[in-house]
Amino acid sequence: MAVLKVAHLGHPVLRQVAEPVPPEGIGAPEIQRLIEDMLETMDDHDGAGLAAPQVHVSRRVVVYGVRANPRYPDAEDVPLTVLVNPRITPLTEDQEEDWEGCLSVPDLRGKVPRWTRLQVEAYGRNGRPLRFVAGGFHARVVQHECDHLDGKVFLDRMRSMETLSFLPEFHRYWLRADD
Ligand code: NI
Repeated sequence: MAVLKVAHLGHPVLRQVAEPVPPEGIGAPEIQRLIEDMLETMDDHDGAGLAAPQVHVSRRVVVYGVRANPRYPDAEDVPLTVLVNPRITPLTEDQEEDWEGCLSVPDLRGKVPRWTRLQVEAYGRNGRPLRFVAGGFHARVVQHECDHLDGKVFLDRMRSMETLSFLPEFHRYWLRADD
């Protein structure tokens, strides 16, 4: 396994629409290695999730999972999950705004509206079809990571740039105000 270099905003790979992985190819060593390396890279950066384009691979693969993460001290647990070729369908018209950050947009936080409940369909790391409902913070993480597969970052989803903050200012002026 290896910790991969994370692409930062401005790198064209983050703006490309990623290619699907043929389901029969998910078991191939190249894809299994990519998944392992993405998990290790996410872990090494204390990220909540990572999409393959963020490690310079334009394929439709995301990994995520949140547990006792110093970057998200108040977040709910989200199960460690690998999604290949994910498709999401909102199950509600309700959107909620909350803070997001991104390993490809270092040191910034902003409030992003996201659907609160989704149907998720994908293939798992073993190539078997997955289908589940995600809500709350889990739904937020899925939407954030799936956006990367379509060349979007959280900044594109913000209703206004007014909350966009550097980390020290986020902690100083916004976290306290939200309490
Ligand atoms: Ni991101």
